[in-house]
Amino acid sequence: MDQQIIIRVANSGDVHYSTIITDEMEASAKARGTGIAKRSPDYIAQKMQEGKAVIAHLPDGTWVGFCYIEAWGHDQFVANSGLIVAPAFRKSGVAKQIKKRVFDLSREKYPHAKIFGLTTGLAVMKINSELGYEPVTYSELTDDDQFWAGCKSCVNYETLMSKDRKNCFCTAMLYDPADHYEPEETAADFKAHSKLYERFMNVKKSRLLKLLKKKESQSKSKSSLLLSPFIIL
Ligand SMILES: CC(C)(COP(=O)(O)OP(=O)(O)OC[C@H]1O[C@@H](n2cnc3c(N)ncnc32)[C@H](O)[C@@H]1OP(=O)(O)O)[C@@H](O)C(=O)NCCC(=O)NCCS
Repeated sequence: MDQQIIIRVANSGDVHYSTIITDEMEASAKARGTGIAKRSPDYIAQKMQEGKAVIAHLPDGTWVGFCYIEAWGHDQFVANSGLIVAPAFRKSGVAKQIKKRVFDLSREKYPHAKIFGLTTGLAVMKINSELGYEPVTYSELTDDDQFWAGCKSCVNYETLMSKDRKNCFCTAMLYDPADHYEPEETAADFKAHSKLYERFMNVKKSRLLKLLKKKESQSKSKSSLLLSPFIIL
């Protein structure tokens, strides 16, 4: 990859990307022959304006990828939906980075919400597992009718309804913050008062410094190869 890929929270200046994003979502769904919850460019633009989306692009503005946040059931559930990467940039870790950024954004905006997704894609299942999602039955997802209405444009909607929304072709995955709970008091207390923690950090710092010095002494050409292909903002 010649240029680094910028991955950041989208804003109102990004609405011009809306159509290319929805076009690619539709084309990819057709190519895969799978179902999709279809979204309009206006809907995508709204997500950008609300700061509930993550976009990836090259420094020259070329669009690379996208994903957005939806909240359901009075903000008790959050879905990171519409993950899409432009074909030319696939299989180099872009989706993983976008999904991580949108996951972090979801945790910032809705710290108590369960984060879930429905997917038929192996790539998304892999990424979700790494983020701490677990496979669940549909009964664990939101019962918000509006969420399920989003499936109406999917070719498999009749199957979903014939099973009373209890099952379909997608695998449901969910991240429950209650399963990843670190008591704040314990963490704060440990960091503030523990001499052991301080010593541990000092050792870590000195090791890191040594490592950095070693890396600096390596040739400049080599160090340019260490550049990450991503800039995460
Ligand atoms: C699915 C998609 C977002 C993946 O994007 P990507 O940037 O190529 O994914 P990454 O490079 O970050 O890969 C993440 C992981 O998935 C794997 N992966 C990527 N594409 C895959 C595929 N088609 N089949 C199986 N595994 C795949 C990668 O090997 C990687 O696994 P690893 O962590 O074990 O190495 C992209 O192919 C796409 O936009 N597809 C069309 C839209 C779509 O299907 N969206 C998902 C809707 S739920």
